[in-house]
Amino acid sequence: MSQEKNEDCGQSAITMISKYRSAGLTMNGRGTSMLKISGLRAGYGRLNALRDIDLEVGKSEIVFVVGPNGAGKSTLLKVVSGLMKPWAGQIEFENEVINGHPPERLCREGLVLVPEGRSIFATLSVEENLALGGMGRKDKSVLQGDLEHVLDTFPILRSRYKGVAGHLSGGEQQQLAIARAILQQPALIMIDEPSLGLAPLMIDEVYASLKALNEKTGMTLLVVEQSTARILNLADRVNVLRNGEIVLSRKTSEISDRKILEEAYFGYVE
Ligand SMILES: Nc1ncnc2c1ncn2[C@@H]1O[C@H](COP(=O)(O)OP(=O)(O)OP(=O)(O)O)[C@@H](O)[C@H]1O
Ligand SMILES: [Mg+2]
Repeated sequence: MSQEKNEDCGQSAITMISKYRSAGLTMNGRGTSMLKISGLRAGYGRLNALRDIDLEVGKSEIVFVVGPNGAGKSTLLKVVSGLMKPWAGQIEFENEVINGHPPERLCREGLVLVPEGRSIFATLSVEENLALGGMGRKDKSVLQGDLEHVLDTFPILRSRYKGVAGHLSGGEQQQLAIARAILQQPALIMIDEPSLGLAPLMIDEVYASLKALNEKTGMTLLVVEQSTARILNLADRVNVLRNGEIVLSRKTSEISDRKILEEAYFGYVE
């Protein structure tokens, strides 16, 4: 990444998005690649967990990767976010190859992961958790604006601002983890199983906030989930990952029936 790109990290996420728009890109930015993965292979010891993965995420898109337990979803996000090194293949982020870049650098460059299990600080307040998201940012007045913006997007966090994060419900904690990630100024936010352990109504709430976030700011989202339920209303594109391979990749507009996903997911229609 260029020096200029690194300096971008001192700007607000909102400012960065405005910049994309003023560069002539649409709010949805379709057709402009944000993340492009080609021939990616990775694993643990002798276990090949990802086999020749090709995957693309366009600017301002919401892209899902769905697959059963052990399919390789978390591994994929770990590799893309720099927590694991790929064995082969290429990852391009905003048209620059980022293979092997350390996670802190990728985070500064706008690629932020919300890991499985949320990792919020349960004994700290909502306010303190959010402050950690903005830690290291020097643009304090802009940060304040971004904070107001996430509190508008996730109103529950405003009403529980001084409360202990561990007292929030699972879905509320998930929203806190996402809000904290937003304050790290992502261009691309990757979320590992936001619905994990949540009741259906809570999943709806979390998904609705993701949609609102995408619609309001044009933020790009790569989300992995185990279930194909509910995602068709949210996703622009769905990839099905099975045994470390993408077995289906399709625009949501081209998926007439969820059965198409189920067939790819299970290898047959249930
Ligand atoms: N640290 C590790 N060491 C060895 N093998 C691992 C490790 N982490 C994951 N694996 C293996 O790699 C494969 C892919 O695991 P991964 O965690 O990416 O799956 P997943 O799709 O995220 O599953 P889940 O839906 O259960 O979270 C599995 O076979 C898993 O057992
Ligand atoms: Mg996982």
